[in-house]
Amino acid sequence: MVVRREMGEVDPAFVQDIEHRPKLAVVEAGGIPLIDLSVLNSVHGKEEGDPRGLAGLVAEIGDACKDWGFFQVINHGVPSDLRLRVETVAKKFFALPLEEKYKVRRDEENPLGYYDTEHTKNVRDWKEVFDFMLEDPTVIPASHKPDDQQLNELRNQWPDYLPEFRGACEEYARGVEKLAFQLLELISLSLGLPGKRLNGFFKDQTSFVRLNHYPPCPSPELALGVGRHKDAGALTVLAQDDVGGLDVKHKTDGEWVRVKPIPDSYIINVGDIIQVWSNDTYESAEHRVRVNRERERFSIPFFFNPSHYVTVKPLEELVIMQNKSPKYEEYNWGKFFTTRKLSNFKKLEVENIQ
Ligand code: SIN
Ligand code: FE2
Repeated sequence: MVVRREMGEVDPAFVQDIEHRPKLAVVEAGGIPLIDLSVLNSVHGKEEGDPRGLAGLVAEIGDACKDWGFFQVINHGVPSDLRLRVETVAKKFFALPLEEKYKVRRDEENPLGYYDTEHTKNVRDWKEVFDFMLEDPTVIPASHKPDDQQLNELRNQWPDYLPEFRGACEEYARGVEKLAFQLLELISLSLGLPGKRLNGFFKDQTSFVRLNHYPPCPSPELALGVGRHKDAGALTVLAQDDVGGLDVKHKTDGEWVRVKPIPDSYIINVGDIIQVWSNDTYESAEHRVRVNRERERFSIPFFFNPSHYVTVKPLEELVIMQNKSPKYEEYNWGKFFTTRKLSNFKKLEVENIQ
């Protein structure tokens, strides 16, 4: 990709259709909700001087999921040194010559590792990426291994020439996983369900972490770091640096809103699976990433995904509570995850959402 700096313009493969090109003018919009999670880490569920308590937090989360499908959290309890370490090794890794990065390159069977050519809706993204799974299928005991052949072929690839890389990645993932489970419980409560109602779906989770690098781009008015899309999993927990570039489409007015970087915060969004479980009470929102001419950008999403054998469908008790009919056909997550095709994911009432 990426590094055709001699070009004044980007390769046509990166060029977005006119209606999807980003406007570069700065718009100051209200932004996605900012939620303080400190109440979670206090002993009694109620911080001194914080009258909201847990119930208030659950209500805030519910409102944010309904209005935006996106919010930002502070005082989240993830140690900042874990994040700093993974950010440092990510920068080191992406700064390596391409032939070093290609030693851990993804291939046709195995989508984990490094790659620099990804397309969103048939347009190439201006980024390079490293993916690894939280539960590496190659280290799961044989008795617990998925019988799905395609899942068995997934294996993490680590660059041995950066010895600190793997540990930093794995420890970071475990730190963010904790936050993801806390958020899952808050979301479950906000839907009127028991806190742990959704936990069982994640017993053999297929969660993965992506290190993103967006190099400076000579034509940021034509290309995008990631084209508009929705996340297919349950929940995404994203760390972004101070450069900015993430845009979220607001559900009600359809405007693209910029997400302001806040140091040491995480951006949370619900994915398609929560949309299906909640039978549309919460909807996953479209988002995209702008790039710029001057500064490279790094971000690290954690994609919190259920076990491969989970059948995703609207939760029966919610459908009853809502007094509505299920809006989605059920589908198998593992099949969807490995094929990443839409054929298993048919929405009954409106068009496909990916
Ligand atoms: C993504 O949505 O895939 C990436 C988000 C980001 O880099 O901010
Ligand atoms: Fe995304």
